[in-house]
Amino acid sequence: SPAELEERFDATIAADQRVEPRDWMPEAYRRTLIRQIAQHAHSEIIGMQPEGNWLLRAPSLRRRAILLAKVQDEAGHGMYLYAAAETLGVDREELTEKLIDSKQKYSSIFNYPTLSWADIGVIGWLVDGAAIANQVPLCRCSYGPYARAMIRICKEESFHQRQGYESLLALTAGTEAQKRMVQESVDRWWWPSLMMFGPADGDSPNTHRSMAWGIKRHTNDELRQRFVDMTVPQAAVLGVTLPDPDLRWNPERQAHDFGEPDWSEFTAVVSGAGPANRQRLDHRRRAHENGAWVREAAQAYAEKQAGKQGA
Ligand code: ACO
Repeated sequence: SPAELEERFDATIAADQRVEPRDWMPEAYRRTLIRQIAQHAHSEIIGMQPEGNWLLRAPSLRRRAILLAKVQDEAGHGMYLYAAAETLGVDREELTEKLIDSKQKYSSIFNYPTLSWADIGVIGWLVDGAAIANQVPLCRCSYGPYARAMIRICKEESFHQRQGYESLLALTAGTEAQKRMVQESVDRWWWPSLMMFGPADGDSPNTHRSMAWGIKRHTNDELRQRFVDMTVPQAAVLGVTLPDPDLRWNPERQAHDFGEPDWSEFTAVVSGAGPANRQRLDHRRRAHENGAWVREAAQAYAEKQAGKQGA
């Protein structure tokens, strides 16, 4: 009976076990997962663009090979995540269309332009660092396919974070101009990185329910704090300043105090008015349209193979 199904679901969540695709789940749980996983998948795919912008301008063959591998990893992450979303009964094609029609979101961070080579290192350090802080707890998400995809993704993200940091170590050990380039980049990316964790807890409509369901394990503010505490000593090693006059160690809390991100900027970027929203979606739409023949050919081939097996 429906009541028994619901009881079984509640017991699975209470025992911290995994919900699998064939299990019964409340419609709202399914919808929340589709929303979050699709947004996450779209972020990986859109996130290829700001870095792809530097592929042909990387300063050496080695840096180009590393960046190319990283951008390809992101495509792979998008694919695992779309596959995880498909286990919930949606279709990848439908999700992509919702993205290009602006009916589903992707992370605010990818709406900022990459203006210097240092941005590539800073994205690895700060953006991938924030992604790891946010995503490691998702490896324990109550929905099995998402949790398993996250394990693999987090391993690759931590490699991405280290390559970014290593690239910045090289720049900060370089000339005065290189050091200035890194500082200028950190100044632009610091606040948008903090916004990646989402609105403050009081303004986050989904956190409470997602935590009760074991989808999210921490609130947005908890993860933002963890990221700040992790990043401050790394900034000191690099010799860069984080652009926040209110940032300081608070011995009572055993954590850093820090300033408030500009939430009006966050709202504007999420609702489509960021510096590169238009460009990102136009590019994605064009790529999708240009790829139509590949999908058609794959479909025709699959049908032909199915026909052969039937005969
Ligand atoms: N960029 C764009 N939209 C955001 C962001 C952000 N940084 N943060 C929150 N939002 C959206 C939420 O999707 C939600 O919108 P919706 O209800 O219309 O779907 C709204 O703002 C309110 O936020 P919350 O109630 O806090 O939403 P939620 O509980 O989903 O938490 C979070 C947001 C933390 C981003 C969560 O969805 C999550 O952990 N997602 C998985 C990680 C992810 O998507 N990472 C992508 C960037 S990292 C990378 O790809 C390298």
